[in-house]
Amino acid sequence: MLLFGIETSCDETATAIVDAATRTIVAQQVYSQVKEHAPYGGVIPELAARAHVERLLPLTQQTLTQAGLTWKDLHGLTATVAPGLTTALLMGRTFAQGLALATGLPFYPAHHLEGHALSPMLGSATLAPPYLLLLVSGGHTQLIHVPQVGTYHLLGTSVDDAAGECFDKVGKLLALPHPAGPALEALAATGNPTAIPFPVPRLQNPLNFSFSGLKTAVRDYLAKHPTAPRADVAASFQHTAAKILSETTARALKETALPTLVAGGGVAANSTIRAALEATAKAHGATFHAAPLPLCTDNAAMIAFATGQRLLHGLPPLPPDVRPRWPLSELTP
Ligand code: KG4
Ligand code: ZN
Repeated sequence: MLLFGIETSCDETATAIVDAATRTIVAQQVYSQVKEHAPYGGVIPELAARAHVERLLPLTQQTLTQAGLTWKDLHGLTATVAPGLTTALLMGRTFAQGLALATGLPFYPAHHLEGHALSPMLGSATLAPPYLLLLVSGGHTQLIHVPQVGTYHLLGTSVDDAAGECFDKVGKLLALPHPAGPALEALAATGNPTAIPFPVPRLQNPLNFSFSGLKTAVRDYLAKHPTAPRADVAASFQHTAAKILSETTARALKETALPTLVAGGGVAANSTIRAALEATAKAHGATFHAAPLPLCTDNAAMIAFATGQRLLHGLPPLPPDVRPRWPLSELTP
C-alpha cells in the first residue's frame, strides 16, 4: 500500500512515498526553512506558511520523479493536520485535499506526534508495540506507553519547556544559530561534560520532566562567569539534559516493566542522549530502538508510515480539523 505523505506542521516542508506494510521509504524530500527564519531567531508562522506554499508543488513533483511513479500507482494521500502552527498546517492539508480532488485518491488526516511515535518502526524490520516511548522534540517531552498502534497512554510530560526548546534557548544564550540542537551537540563534543554541575530537578510526579530550571541555571552561570569556556557550558548542559531524560525514563521502565524502550523526535538525534537511553534500557533488561537519524527531525515519511499503520490495523480515520494542540493520548479509542 503506497501512500503519499505531506508534512508542514512547522518549518520543514516535506513529502514522501512510503509502503507501510513493507516499511519501505520509496522516495522522500525535506526542505528545511532554517535560512528563512534565521534572521528572527525563531520560527515565524506566516513566513513558514508562505515557504510551504512555494515548495509543496516542486517537492511533490520531485518525489514522484524520484520514485518513478505516477498518481495511478498510489493508494492515498495523507498530510499532518495537528498539532503544529495553524497557518503552516493549513497549507499542507489544503494542498493534499486539492491533490485528492484532482487525482481521485482518498485523503487521510495524520497526527504529527503519531508520526514521531511510530517512526522507530520504520527503521527496523521487526520492532512493534508494546513499548515505552520517549517522545522528545521541539514542542514535546513525553513518556508514553504504547500497547499497540493507535493506543497511547501518557505517563509523564514536561511541566514547562520541552527538551528541544531548552536546547534552542540555551543555544541562543551561547550565540548558536536556531534551531540550536545540532550546533550545541557539535560544540559540546569539544567540552568537558562534568565541568559544571547543573542541577537535576525533583518533581512531585516522578515521571514528569522540567527543563526551565536547567535553562535558568545555564543563564545564571553565564552571567556570573562570562569568560567560561562555551564548550564546557554546552557539554555540561547536554550531560544534564541527558541525565534528566534517562533518569526519568528509568523510573518509567521500572514502573511499567516494558521490554522495549523507543525514542523519537528531533532531540532523539542527539548521540549523547541516545547513548544515555541505551544504557538505561540495558540496565533494566530492555532493548532500545531510536528512530533512524534522518527520521528524528520532522519529515513526511513518518507521516505516510503512521497513516499506513493505522490503515493496516483497521483504525478509524482521524478528523481533518487543523489544530495547534492535540494530545496524542486523545487518539486512543
Ligand atoms: O521533531 P522536531 O524536528 O520538530 C518538532 O516536532 O518539534 O524537533 C526539533 C527540535 C529542535 O528543538 C532542535 O533543536 C532539536 O529538535 N534537535 C536536537 C538535535 N537535532 C535537533 N536537539 C539536540 N541534539 C540534536 N542533535
Ligand atoms: Zn516534530
